[in-house]
Amino acid sequence: MNKGQKLLKKAKKVIPGGNQLLSKRSEIFLPEFWPNYYNKAKDCKIWDLENKLYYDFAGMGVTSCVLGYSDKDINTALIEGLKKGSMTTLNATEEFELANRLIKIHKWADMAKFCKSGGEACMVAIRIARAFSKRQNIAFCGYHGWHDWYLATNMQKKNNLDKQLLPGLKTKGVSKSYANSIFPFIYNDINSLKKILTKKNNIGIIIMEPMRGQEPNNNFLKKIRKIANKNKIILIFDEITSGFKDVYGGIHLKFNVDPDIAIFGKSIGNGYPISSIIGKRKIMECAQDTFISSTMWTDRLGFIAANETLKKLKKEKVNLKINKIGKKIKKAWIKIAKKNNINIKVSGLNAIPSFSFEYKNNKEISTFFIQEMLKKGFLANNTISISYAYTDQIIKKYLSAFDKVFKQIKFSLNKKKFLLDGPIRHSTFRRLTG
Ligand SMILES: Cc1ncc(COP(=O)(O)O)c(C=O)c1O
Repeated sequence: MNKGQKLLKKAKKVIPGGNQLLSKRSEIFLPEFWPNYYNKAKDCKIWDLENKLYYDFAGMGVTSCVLGYSDKDINTALIEGLKKGSMTTLNATEEFELANRLIKIHKWADMAKFCKSGGEACMVAIRIARAFSKRQNIAFCGYHGWHDWYLATNMQKKNNLDKQLLPGLKTKGVSKSYANSIFPFIYNDINSLKKILTKKNNIGIIIMEPMRGQEPNNNFLKKIRKIANKNKIILIFDEITSGFKDVYGGIHLKFNVDPDIAIFGKSIGNGYPISSIIGKRKIMECAQDTFISSTMWTDRLGFIAANETLKKLKKEKVNLKINKIGKKIKKAWIKIAKKNNINIKVSGLNAIPSFSFEYKNNKEISTFFIQEMLKKGFLANNTISISYAYTDQIIKKYLSAFDKVFKQIKFSLNKKKFLLDGPIRHSTFRRLTG
């Protein structure tokens, strides 16, 4: 057992599930063999507890660290901010600077609020929207965090969330009073939205990811905007994952559809805790008619990290490089799969490309893929988040390892046997024990 797995076993005795985030659970990658903990990280490299080096092709900090780990320019600004004091009785001017920066990018928005995590930012957006609207209920599409307002949809029907991002989410502990306040619709299926806009459902808010796995087709986003206008519904785009990667400012700018509120997180601070809600003045002003307030939302470092990240993303046109790399990797995946006669489906933003094995035993195959890539020095997954830190040389190394592992997969498919060193990865949320 590696050091990381030994520590995880102990951690599960004092931390329920072993950590704070489902997407960083060892069990969803490679149970019993994933390194799980890191010692240090730089650019797209991570050293585990045994100081083994891995290149990160498994998400770059759950899609947060677009510029790469421990970025020199952001570090410099943060160290300066730390020395000058990051928390005081007075407010940090960088908060005002960040609000202006975001509003300048988004001509449709007038005001901004900030918090730390994505889920919190979604909660803030929903509260503001509810404070503004006479109709309190929500139509949603996509993933929007762990809070009660969202999870409650699984109380209405146990598997409402299964067609969104994360299947199998449990609702024990969520107040039943929310159960009939939130209704799912399906991406690119405008009728699924129309169907739930009944008088009884009383929907006043639509919250959705403008794009994740698939491109909008048939003017899907434009149609949503039209429906929202016609029915006086507030439209919220959750760009926590899609924001500032393919497009500086957010993917909605590419599709030319403005929401009433947009939410950003993760990559706007390159992994430092900061998230934001921007929106139209008449709606955002309602934040003053309700109580939304938290001490740590005033922390200076998050604002500094976001200002520096956004400056660098813009100055170095990072999104262009990321798009180019994403397209190149998608193309290479398809070519390698074809060469080995392996059936895969490629999807996702160019910045967050994804592939799936189109087989009944896809979980077994992808566990084998992760296992063998790990042996070759890569933290790998079916979904990757392109980093500005990926050099041509590193991409070449990755694709060469990918090619070798796909040859092994071809061989295993032919033999109908995959040599797994441990159990198959988990695909859904589960209770974990030591
Ligand atoms: C679209 C979207 N919304 C909300 C969240 C929740 O953000 P956080 O994990 O920072 O709470 C995520 C996280 O993956 C996300 O992708």
